[in-house]
Amino acid sequence: MPPYPGGKRPLPFLGHILELPKEKSWMTFRKWHEMYGPLLTIWNGNTPTVLIGDAGSISSQGKTILFATYGERWRAYRKAIHLGTSQKAVDSYLPIFENEGKVLAADFLNNPDGWYQNIFRYTASAVVAITYGRRIVDLDKDAAYQKLAETVGFQIKMNVPGAQCKREENDCDNLGHETFPVLRHLPAWMNETKRKAIEFRTLGRGNFAALVNEVRNKLATGNIPDSSLIADSYTKKMLESRLKFAELDEIEFNQQPGSLFAAGVDTTSSTLQSFVLALVLHPEVQAKLHKEMDEIIGHDRSPTWSDEVKLPYLLAVVKETLRWRPVAILGGTPHANTEDDVFVYKGKSYFIPKGTTILASLWAINMNSETYPDPNSFNPERFYNGQEYPSPGGKGHSSFGWGRRVCPGAYFAERSLYITTARLAWGFKFEMMKDQSGKDIRPDATMETGYTSGFNCRPLPFPCKISPRSGVIKSVIEKELEEALDFLRFYEE
Ligand code: HEM
Repeated sequence: MPPYPGGKRPLPFLGHILELPKEKSWMTFRKWHEMYGPLLTIWNGNTPTVLIGDAGSISSQGKTILFATYGERWRAYRKAIHLGTSQKAVDSYLPIFENEGKVLAADFLNNPDGWYQNIFRYTASAVVAITYGRRIVDLDKDAAYQKLAETVGFQIKMNVPGAQCKREENDCDNLGHETFPVLRHLPAWMNETKRKAIEFRTLGRGNFAALVNEVRNKLATGNIPDSSLIADSYTKKMLESRLKFAELDEIEFNQQPGSLFAAGVDTTSSTLQSFVLALVLHPEVQAKLHKEMDEIIGHDRSPTWSDEVKLPYLLAVVKETLRWRPVAILGGTPHANTEDDVFVYKGKSYFIPKGTTILASLWAINMNSETYPDPNSFNPERFYNGQEYPSPGGKGHSSFGWGRRVCPGAYFAERSLYITTARLAWGFKFEMMKDQSGKDIRPDATMETGYTSGFNCRPLPFPCKISPRSGVIKSVIEKELEEALDFLRFYEE
């Protein structure tokens, strides 16, 4: 039989458990890939996890799409997700991205110190408007947002291999369950992690059902904007084509819209926050962006969709942001192979037994110096000169995943990222704040101390100075806010 991939020796019974870090495992994985090569098996006791650290080698190998096993059920989820994330569907939602983007610009103008939360509100509101037909004005007061955040937060914490998230009351310890999967058969009263998971499952299902029922009730009472005024929300479309999704039971059906929130909000907002971080740290990149904006857009109008092809430097900056600080740092939800497999890599065969957890070490892949010379530096030029890199869909980076499980929301995310980064780069100058002695407060961009741990990582909040680039730009942003709120009233309750 061919060997397991990789040459990192495990301890008898314990495997690599003593070396597995409690937090930010991707940093250790990157180090191990550098020492032992792109294919690696790590052992949680007797449970293997294969790490893949080479973008060129990866091909396609519950009750919600993120956790569904590959097969009929997953295909049904994927078909349903398509109703909200296909190119045609996303194009019908462009006015939401555009108008919420105008509100975001006004928020940056009026409350620059709240920039970090402003980005979060923008992403959450755009996704919830698309999904449930209602926008979010205030994150702290919006009941729908509270329900979604509560449900999704727990799933995300559970999703990190080897994680021991015991920092807060509702956190869980899933390391024990990975090392000794037999624990899952213990009754809930003897098993705290299982008990918490069941509690959250019940709460989450109730939350998702309540949000779908809200749309169902609006439809029944006719209290919903006409399709000629705004595009139908994803939930409305799902309810109207319920029969097409007969294979999904009620719980699965209700989870679908929630998946857009679970997968779309954290990811896009984190990328936008990293974009701001990169601009603050790289005035030279910002100067080039501003030059492009001045040449193509000018000050008396803001960027539109048709400008995209004329803004190649902006697109290079967005790609570099996705490569430099990938959100789904472990390549997304861990997968497992459904059959014993022999994996051939560079002419050698490796045995991967059925049920092995398989993870793409996205952090190691994006930081591979053979693919991306000087990988730690933020350098949009690497995407500006026509150079190609091994990556799915020719995107130049692997941050949206691979194969059959590749992110179905990539087009959705790219639309949102383009219109928002274009507006921010056009409208604002981003600088370091000064301390009392006039010294720059340099934000920490390192993964070690400047980013969160967890399934999706994001930069920790940091202060920065954000100012409009001219008086003319300021008046355009103010005027556009009024137009945007006029359009967005259709999404207010
Ligand atoms: C910058 C933004 C985003 C990034 C970097 C990103 C990245 C990823 C990655 C790496 C995966 C995992 C692929 C795998 O499991 O192999 C994934 C899965 C997924 N993403 Fe995204 N994503 C983003 C935005 C979005 C948005 C906006 C949506 C929907 C509106 C979305 C929906 C999904 C769904 C439903 C899955 C699960 C697919 C499956 O398991 O079949 N994502 N994403």
